[in-house]
Order: sequence, then structure tokens, then C-alpha cells
Amino acid sequence: MSKETSALPGLAVLVSGRGSNLAAIFRAIEQDELHARVALVISSRADAPALDIAREHGAETRVIAPKSFASRAEAGAAIIAAMREVRVQAVALAGYKPILDASVVAAYSDRILNVHPSLLPAFAGGMAPRPQADALAAGVKVSGCTVHIVTADVDAGPIVAQAAVPVLDDDTVESLSARILAEEHRLLPLALEWLLSGRLRIEQGRTWLASADL
Ligand code: GRF
Repeated sequence: MSKETSALPGLAVLVSGRGSNLAAIFRAIEQDELHARVALVISSRADAPALDIAREHGAETRVIAPKSFASRAEAGAAIIAAMREVRVQAVALAGYKPILDASVVAAYSDRILNVHPSLLPAFAGGMAPRPQADALAAGVKVSGCTVHIVTADVDAGPIVAQAAVPVLDDDTVESLSARILAEEHRLLPLALEWLLSGRLRIEQGRTWLASADL
């Protein structure tokens, strides 16, 4: 690693599946839109395709599967230890399925971002594609995605950024998910850049940005 690269703030990206948001983070770094280095990719599953994306980009990977630990707290301790080893400054949950132990949330308080495929607080909870399916079933005309700070309450932390997309009459869960995903890929790296550059102020359950470029 070059001296210049190692001086960049370290990101940990936590994944469980496909990894398209992880790929978007790498792309934003390559395009000089996100000034960070992916110091570590942690997967909750050994067979997650996201791990291949991480390896293709030469990132360090770890599999920390909650089911191999006696408790969520022990898995949390392993995650914290792995992130401390590589001096992580911020964390992205990018399609990460397990609920993060409170110890991890506390150790990286206001430094963990999650992307959720709905306009929170609507359709909180549940992994993709449930929020998209619930949005379709509810008949909403607009949906989207939310990047928020992770707190102990699932999908309820301070909202950092949202993007809306239309819900079309002939949408399926797949077509709506694809439209939302394109916005996730734009918003998560942008919100990470805001966080790492110190532009985000987080107070009393809300966030403010020094100046907006959405
Ligand atoms: C995304 O829709 C994200 O919002 C949700 O899970 C999906 C992960 O997709 N939490 P990917 O693994 O990043 O492709």
C-alpha cells in the first residue's frame, strides 16, 4: 500500500450477500468521489458473492459468522477486534443481514451508516426485498432509499440522506428494487464522504450537512 493510500481514512464494509453497494463504494473511491480506503470487508457468510468483489479489489476480508459464536455479544467482540486491528474510522452496512451487537454500535457511535431500501421511517425492518415488496403491497406511489446512522434501534437512527423513486403501475419487486438500488449506489458513497470529511453534524436524532451537493 502506498503511503498516500494508507493516509486515507479506513472504512470497514459489512456485507452478507451480492455486494453491489460494496462495488459502488470501490467505484466511488476509484473515481475520486470518496476519499477513503476499504480497510476491511467483513462478511457474515462465507459464501457471499460480495467477498469475491472485495478480493477482486485487493481488500482484506474476514468472515465473522454470528452462528459460529455463542452469543451476539461474542460475535460483536470479534467484529470490534478485527476493525481495531486495521484502524477503521467509519463503517458501512451494505446488505449486512445480522443485527449488529450494541457493543459494536457503541464502539463506533455515530460512525456506522446503513443503507435501507425504503424511505424510512416507512417500511423499516426486514431485509431486501421485503421493504420493496411491502411498499408495492401498500400501493405507495413513491419509494426510495435511506442512508442513516446506525443506533441500537434497528432502522431508526438519524437520517443522513434519502432519494425517492416513482413506483410505476406495472412494477414488480424486481423492477422497483433495481430502480431503488441505483439510488443506493449513489447515496451510500456520498453519505460516507460526508461523514469522513467531517461535514455531518449529528444532534438529537437529526443530521445536518455543512453544505449540500445532492
Ligand atoms: C440493498 O438493497 C440494501 O439496501 C439492503 O440489502 C441490499 C443489498 O444489496 N440492505 P447488495 O448486497 O449491496 O447488492
